[in-house]
Amino acid sequence: MRFEDELKERVLEADQAVRDYMPAEATFQKTVTDAMEYTMYAGGKRIRPVLMKAVFDMFGGNASLIRPFMAALEMIHTYSLIHDDLPALDNDDYRRGRKTAHIVYGEAMAILAGDSLLNYAYETAAKSFSLVEKAAPEDTPGLLQELMVRRRLERAMKVLACKPGIYGMIGGQVADVELTGTRLSLEQITYIYQNKTSALIEAAMMIGGILAGVEDTGIEKLEKAGYNIGMAFQIQDDILDETATFEELGKPIHSDEKNEKVTHVTLYGIEQSAKEAERLSEEAVSIVEGFGRDSGFLAELITWLIHRKN
Ligand code: IPE
Ligand code: IPE
Ligand code: MG
Ligand code: MG
Ligand code: MG
Repeated sequence: MRFEDELKERVLEADQAVRDYMPAEATFQKTVTDAMEYTMYAGGKRIRPVLMKAVFDMFGGNASLIRPFMAALEMIHTYSLIHDDLPALDNDDYRRGRKTAHIVYGEAMAILAGDSLLNYAYETAAKSFSLVEKAAPEDTPGLLQELMVRRRLERAMKVLACKPGIYGMIGGQVADVELTGTRLSLEQITYIYQNKTSALIEAAMMIGGILAGVEDTGIEKLEKAGYNIGMAFQIQDDILDETATFEELGKPIHSDEKNEKVTHVTLYGIEQSAKEAERLSEEAVSIVEGFGRDSGFLAELITWLIHRKN
């Protein structure tokens, strides 16, 4: 299948997982479930669940066990965007082609919608435990097979808990906010990108591998690949902030300049930043190819990400 067609199919698959697990009912909290849906269904690229599933497939993972994790990670990512856009952070008015949640629902509801997506992500991932019977391979005896699958789920839950936290995405956002307006060292910028952006991509790669039964040394390699993909992804995001149009991005351009954010592009210029993204991305491709599996789609996706236009 052509890469573009396969990507389209896989984005739909990720989107369906999200839709299947979003909250179905509401009474007096309806405003917040509306605000969750408003941002969730605005048309994000769904890159994190697509990466997760691509890794899972590369290692021959089977069954529906991964779907709650795909949905959960996209919920966490979407919460991070709602909060990132708040007046206290980047103060941006558009996201995914729509007015941001705080513009439409007010700041209080946007904060609560972000909180809700974060919490609901863990409610969702925890549902994977009830899928264990279906997911267990048929050729191993009952109790052992169940234990093995539960062990994978526990490891995946741990990654899903750590990577978005203070030693991951939040840590990066803290430094990003606090160091705004200062001339960043390479060490500081690396810390910010590794955490605000790579952490969730590392989680995607690791969880895909863990649920497919990859052993620890393989998971470390997937984490490293995720680090590289995330760094390159953020550099391309910074480049697009300067070079893309609002229509292409669906979010404000020159947001970094407005906020006096020093980015990789401010420090090194577009050309050198693009080169660095390419280097990081090529290294990620060689890591995934090094597993000796059918990495065709995953490798193309990694390369596509640094040439994306939104
Ligand atoms: C935006 O992420 C935030 C960054 C880490 C740069 P995406 O570019 O994946 O946003 P959506 O999900 O497609 O809207
Ligand atoms: C965002 O970085 C990373 C998050 C954790 C949301 P940016 O602030 O550069 O992301 P955009 O450009 O608003 O999507
Ligand atoms: Mg930001
Ligand atoms: Mg922002
Ligand atoms: Mg940006």
